Amino acid sequence: MTSVETVPVSLGERSYDIKIGEGLLAQSGALIAPMLRRPNVAILTDENVAAVHLASLQAGLSEAGVTSTALALPAGESTKSWPHFSRAVEWLLDAKVERNDVVIALGGGVIGDLAGFAAAVLRRGVRFVQIPTSLLAQVDSSVGGKTGINAPQGKNLIGAFHQPSLVLADIDVLDSLAPRDFLSGYGEVVKYGLLGDANFFEWLEKNAPEMAAGDKTKRAYAVKRSCEMKAEIVARDETEQGDRALLNLGHTFCHALENATGYSDRLLHGEGVAIGCALALETSARLGLCSQEDPSRLRAHLREMGMKADIAEIEGPLPDAEGLLALMGQDKKVVDGQIKFILTHGIGLAFVSPKTDTDVVLGVLRDALAK
Ligand code: GLY
Repeated sequence: MTSVETVPVSLGERSYDIKIGEGLLAQSGALIAPMLRRPNVAILTDENVAAVHLASLQAGLSEAGVTSTALALPAGESTKSWPHFSRAVEWLLDAKVERNDVVIALGGGVIGDLAGFAAAVLRRGVRFVQIPTSLLAQVDSSVGGKTGINAPQGKNLIGAFHQPSLVLADIDVLDSLAPRDFLSGYGEVVKYGLLGDANFFEWLEKNAPEMAAGDKTKRAYAVKRSCEMKAEIVARDETEQGDRALLNLGHTFCHALENATGYSDRLLHGEGVAIGCALALETSARLGLCSQEDPSRLRAHLREMGMKADIAEIEGPLPDAEGLLALMGQDKKVVDGQIKFILTHGIGLAFVSPKTDTDVVLGVLRDALAK
């Protein structure tokens, strides 16, 4: 068994730990009980995750004498909406969750975001613990305090910054992921190497195939290194006034592609991030900011992992380059009409570009669509 690693997120009085390791569901009671004023917690989860992991979590809690009650919402992105959100908040009120109690989010990004937002508004804010069950949630959405739901007008448009009090990333739960979902999460892992740590990217080139095949030591290291990088950026810029935008490397392209594919399983989020990172590198190369070998090196690695590496690998029709650029113009990150791209001076050297020549972006998109 790998030892349990701790990554601190330093945010003054809102600081917390991310624990990473095997068997954390079984140890959840011992890890959470010291935070509790009374030995009782409310768990928000989804039906798919509940079927596989809820019993282990509840057994782990009861080992330390912590009783729990749970609400399982339907699985899927459409749960991140007002109707399910109000159901969750009212269920927490019916469960008599008090201001000093703790809510647990057991699930992937949808549950983490919704439960975190419910905790943010319940009685003007209660503490919550993230127990992420997808790779994507372990390395990204469970850390950093972005919580919220989708609006008919767009994704994640309603929400709050509300930091968790503890994150438990149990490496064992990744065994239950379908390979495509694991690799989608890997899109966010590879992003960290690209944005700020060339040595990590090199490590991934050597070790990611074994990690994807199930090597737990390598999985734990990849989650830990990703969380360390995210924690460091969030500690510097909690509410995204500057550097936190680096975490959006590849995301402007990704959001346009997700929108164009109807947020369907034609393209999972992390798959879009991986393709988006390749397009951001390509744009950077064409602007003379990095070597042309960088996007090729990333694409070769993604293909070795069995992942989509370019727009042409997305099945079905897509808008033309102008259409995709128009979708990017609707991104949350547009400031004063300028799309804020994250570009790079090379692998591990990303930066926030306040202004980018959109003709170059159009050229990259046109060539990618023509392949
Ligand atoms: N997922 C991007 C962020 O947390 O800022």
